[in-house]
Amino acid sequence: MRAQSPVAPKDGFGWRHALPAFALSFSLLLLAAPSGFSGPAAFDSSRLAKLYERMSAPQYEIGTKLVALLEISPGSSVLDLGCGTGQLASAIARVAGPRGKVLGMDPSPYRIAIAERRARKGLSFVVGGSEDLPRLAPRSFDVVCLNYVFHWIDDRRQALGAIHRILKPGGKLGISFEDTSRPTELDKIIEQSAKEVLGTLPPGLFLETAPLGLTPLKEMLRKSGFRVVVVKKRESEDQAKSPEELLAFWRASSAGRFLSGVSERARRRVLHRIEQRLAEAETGQGIRITSETLLLIAVRSDED
Ligand SMILES: C[S@@+](CC[C@H](N)C(=O)[O-])C[C@H]1O[C@@H](n2cnc3c(N)ncnc32)[C@H](O)[C@@H]1O
Repeated sequence: MRAQSPVAPKDGFGWRHALPAFALSFSLLLLAAPSGFSGPAAFDSSRLAKLYERMSAPQYEIGTKLVALLEISPGSSVLDLGCGTGQLASAIARVAGPRGKVLGMDPSPYRIAIAERRARKGLSFVVGGSEDLPRLAPRSFDVVCLNYVFHWIDDRRQALGAIHRILKPGGKLGISFEDTSRPTELDKIIEQSAKEVLGTLPPGLFLETAPLGLTPLKEMLRKSGFRVVVVKKRESEDQAKSPEELLAFWRASSAGRFLSGVSERARRRVLHRIEQRLAEAETGQGIRITSETLLLIAVRSDED
């Protein structure tokens, strides 16, 4: 789903503005600045970015497992695509060591503003999304990492093609995601609440742009020139003290896209119904919703 109503960034962030010095060594093609602010970050805000920074420990934990599976060698060049507020990119930079080069890239200037506080020698950040990958030099990365990002990408084939192009031959791609072909308790609560309030469930309207399952992803990877070498399942848990807190986290985690496709009035009614259902699921020790995350490693399999 494409954003309908772009929000202008407060401080005029843009590709040029956020370009880190060392990113030049990746030969970013600065032919044009990104057009407006209508892409994946259109619903984001400084408040949501700060909330994500505070509440994303579960995502970070899964991210470190993904990074371990990637077996990043010291001195590697790594792109953390959809790096959010940069916590995982910073951990990757520690693994890549003093000779490594890590670039964190995210379409949200609000998230990159937080990430930039972590920038140091060998670790830089830039505003940009999967749509902007064609600006990066071909064969410039050993590893590309997407931790809880791929399901947010609208044009997944374009993204995989572009990632294939910027990876060196034999380079690795790591993706973590929740398999939406197996709905969690949370998915069911959202669906039921939306159906109750709206009477229908518009496709692709909720947590991610379109469903993502392991089998179609593997097929897409194969067609894009990747060989899948590892798939692991890990249980992850969303924890919150209250329904309000959990809802706030989903909005933060989705960069504001959660329920963004319905009118403000309808959204408030659906959120209220979700809150009621979550309150019913509360145990007295807050709310815990477990889900299964898939960690996948693929290798660029051909020479081109
Ligand atoms: C759940 S957060 C994950 C952030 C980070 N990878 C982490 O591990 O904490 C999803 C991120 O994907 C980013 N995103 C959304 N659409 C994107 C796109 N087309 N290309 C790159 N990143 C995107 C969002 O801005 C957001 O920061």
